[in-house]
Amino acid sequence: MALIVERSEAIVEIRLDRPDKHNALDLECFGILDRATAEIASDRTVRAVLVTASPAKVFCAGADIADLHGIDDAEAVRRAAYRRQVLQRFSQLPVPSVAVVTGAALGGGAELALAATFRLVTANASFAFPEIDLGMLPGAGGTQRLPRLIGEARAMEMILSGRRVDAREAIAIGLADRLVEAPAAEARAFVDRWIGQPYEAVAAILAAIRAAHGSLQPGLDREGIELTGLVSSEAAKQRVAAFLSRKTRSDPGRDQERS
Ligand code: COA
Repeated sequence: MALIVERSEAIVEIRLDRPDKHNALDLECFGILDRATAEIASDRTVRAVLVTASPAKVFCAGADIADLHGIDDAEAVRRAAYRRQVLQRFSQLPVPSVAVVTGAALGGGAELALAATFRLVTANASFAFPEIDLGMLPGAGGTQRLPRLIGEARAMEMILSGRRVDAREAIAIGLADRLVEAPAAEARAFVDRWIGQPYEAVAAILAAIRAAHGSLQPGLDREGIELTGLVSSEAAKQRVAAFLSRKTRSDPGRDQERS
């Protein structure tokens, strides 16, 4: 199983566990995440969710690029919509979720972290949206959640450039909430503060604050429409095929700048 869901008292941990693919999220992972979300939402004894991965260079390399290849455009659009809906449902949980980012969160990996309520980062964590190199856009809510967190111009710059933002910068711009040295212990201490509080109060606070900037749905719909146009483009098809066949994906100068 590439995504492991474990319960410890009031906390559910969702752990990415696909090291041979840098924890890339295939459709099975999204299915497991979606079922876990539904179970957590209906279980009032769950008070917090942690999204973790074993410490490694890459926390999550994003959506599984193999799932984008060799399918017709309608199926590609359907899969993208599914990923978007799964993360949207996850983001609406009635309990807070914390992504504990312990390496590079790329593309869909960064979008998963954005869908969590909070992001804790270790010093080697980073965030980037490499979708532009695939001729695409972050299609699982990234174009909507990122500007809400860090502002429009910064979000434009990150998504247009594919640049990696390191942990220190992520904290400085509000993309991450706290730098941690001992992720497991500090994540536990972070969530312990509300675990004893009334369930209804926590859920109400989340719902009210989420409504502060209006519904995300029109923006998510627009993201889907824009992605629909891109998946059928020649550029996207060529770049996805190039990644999978390990040809040069982009200007090497820009790649160097990112690492
Ligand atoms: N989807 C599917 N497979 C992926 C993947 C992804 N997003 N990211 C990495 N992998 C796979 C590679 O294909 C490779 O598989 P293989 O060993 O069967 O060939 C394996 O994970 C290791 O990746 P590799 O590229 O060899 O490791 P690296 O250390 O040289 O580079 C990354 C690591 C993360 C920089 C690089 O894998 C990468 O750029 N991944 C794509 C990131 C991306 O564009 N994400 C957005 C997706 S929409």
